[in-house]
Amino acid sequence: MGVVVLGTGSFLPEKIVTNSDLEKIVDTSDEWIASRTGIRERRISGPGEQAYILASKAANRALEAAGLKADEIDAIIVGTISSHLSMPSCACMVQQEIGASKAFAFDVNAACSGFLYALNTGYQFIANNKTMKILCIGAETLSARTNWQDRNTCVLFADGAGAAVIGFEEGERGILGSKIYSDGSLWRLLYMSAAESRNEDLRVPELEGACIRMEGTDVFKHAVRAMHDAVVTLLDETNTSLDSIKLLIPHQANIRILNKISEKLGLSEDQVFVNVSNYGNTSAASVPIALDEAVKAGKINKGDLVLFCSFGGGFTWASCLLKW
Ligand code: ACO
Repeated sequence: MGVVVLGTGSFLPEKIVTNSDLEKIVDTSDEWIASRTGIRERRISGPGEQAYILASKAANRALEAAGLKADEIDAIIVGTISSHLSMPSCACMVQQEIGASKAFAFDVNAACSGFLYALNTGYQFIANNKTMKILCIGAETLSARTNWQDRNTCVLFADGAGAAVIGFEEGERGILGSKIYSDGSLWRLLYMSAAESRNEDLRVPELEGACIRMEGTDVFKHAVRAMHDAVVTLLDETNTSLDSIKLLIPHQANIRILNKISEKLGLSEDQVFVNVSNYGNTSAASVPIALDEAVKAGKINKGDLVLFCSFGGGFTWASCLLKW
């Protein structure tokens, strides 16, 4: 089934916030953040840089790389949890912004797994209709939803967007397998409130505050196990050996999570793409940003096997194997 990536793009806000900058806001240190998370700096949106703007800029770059015009796109699927409006979808705003006049557009809420959920959904559409060309995007402005007084979370999350255009091509290249998972029983370990209810009867005071809340140690353990198992299952089902994998592009949450997964899988350092030190955790945007950087750095060539995995609030997790 040749559902291939026709082009990738990413966009990061210019504004850099370093660990030393955060030392001035909360009781933390560069040493603590770097040793616990691997993060050195992150990008934070400036005036007007809402999620749909970041997404549209990444989308335009992916379209250019694919050699396509926006009005050739049939669908736009955006993974996001931080669009500034609940309605319309971020995807509809991207449609307007880039001029994808014939597309239908919708968002998926799968937190840090948003891009791989979007990719999996796009893959199903194309399996059904080989003429379709689809923009899959991960875009976040988590800086708007972070409690900048909470050192447990404000050092982790950041802003950015990445995009991939997918379409059908005859031959052996393309998505070889794609799995998405969720376990709603554990949602209280990682969540973010919506806007406060205007109906008194629907208020849940203990969940309000619109900020990300997380039980870090529990999330860490679940993230390692779920991403590891999702990769092993996919390799098993596609009869693929780890040795044949050119690059694993995991969700960039934390260097210690990535190291644990690599160690458990037995992957070498050069088989795992890592850029968390520069961008922090950009949730749904992290995988497509990393993919675009890997492509631009020449780390992936035609015919290479590329693996993806992610984990996030829900809990949701996912894996995907692609012959580039
Ligand atoms: N600076 C200094 N000290 C801090 C900071 C900070 N920014 N944040 C927490 N601390 C303190 C805590 O208050 C605690 O102090 P105490 O012992 O006096 O209570 C101490 O450091 C140790 O805290 P722990 O939570 O035990 O630290 P841990 O080693 O577990 O690291 C971390 C915390 C980095 C959050 C870790 O649990 C983690 O990486 N979890 C995964 C979470 C994650 O990546 N979530 C992203 C969303 S899900 C995903 O993307 C996969």
